[in-house]
Amino acid sequence: MKLKTKDLLTLAELTPKEFVCLIDDSIKLKKELKKSGSKHVLKNKTLAMIFQKPSTRTRVSFETGMYQLGGCAINLSSNDMQLSRGESVEDTARTLSRYSNCIVARVYEHELLAKLAEHATVPVINGLSDTFHPCQILADFMTIKENFGKIKGLKIAWVGDGNNVCNSMIYGAALSGTIMSIATPKGFEPDKNVVTESKKSTKIELTTDPFVAVKNADVVVTDTYSSIHNKNPKRMKKFLPKFQVNPELMKSAKKNTIFMHCLPAKREQEVTSSVIDGPQSVVWDEVENRLHTQKALLTALIQA
Ligand code: CP
Ligand code: NVA
Repeated sequence: MKLKTKDLLTLAELTPKEFVCLIDDSIKLKKELKKSGSKHVLKNKTLAMIFQKPSTRTRVSFETGMYQLGGCAINLSSNDMQLSRGESVEDTARTLSRYSNCIVARVYEHELLAKLAEHATVPVINGLSDTFHPCQILADFMTIKENFGKIKGLKIAWVGDGNNVCNSMIYGAALSGTIMSIATPKGFEPDKNVVTESKKSTKIELTTDPFVAVKNADVVVTDTYSSIHNKNPKRMKKFLPKFQVNPELMKSAKKNTIFMHCLPAKREQEVTSSVIDGPQSVVWDEVENRLHTQKALLTALIQA
């Protein structure tokens, strides 16, 4: 499948059909890899990856994915690039477009991605910005589909910080017809525009009570209270103990409810070890699925 959009900066660039197709393609790629290995559909293609922030999963899954598809990835820390000496984003985009077939960038300001995309002649993928993390959500919805055999009509409860991952998950819910209930402390709600826009397509509920959010939920999700761009230790007081995913909260959902977390996790803060290491947790499938969804996305964006 080829996508209509040139870039993937937020999931809002996808149609509902494309979103579902990407997830189904990822499931096929996972099966193919385990059965006979990946086809080299991106032979001789290169992916340039710019990281302004640290990463384990995003970097390794994109790099491994390109290798499995017959291409290669070049890992660039922005500190080691001429960007750090004042070369413009526009000129960086033009330069990388002459060498590589796609660019992944993990940045602070989301606007920087838009600038990269505007001036790059190759696709630009958001590998996480302060406001969105679309690639994570592709893997999350793949994991949900694997567990329930469907996505539409399920209920996701988000507990904790209404952050970049939460914003992208709301878009994912809107694209797939999933209901979302989001419990955050006051002042830590997800992006207002994302919520307003997504409410046109699905039910998005905001609450300050985690027990309200998890009621009848099929999926309970959380993320760190201190994202890379939000390290103020005072934030912690607003979240603990009320917004911790612990056995008591999980018991208020359903028997077969799954627990998800994009990782890295701060154990005993947003989630207890008993939950993240417990039988309802699917976090390691989520980790693995980053690989399969990156491969589906790269194949769908890079021109043959
Ligand atoms: N979930 C995720 O994006 O992990 P990394 O920060 O390790 O890439
Ligand atoms: N919300 C986290 C996600 C890390 C993958 C952050 O932005 O640091």
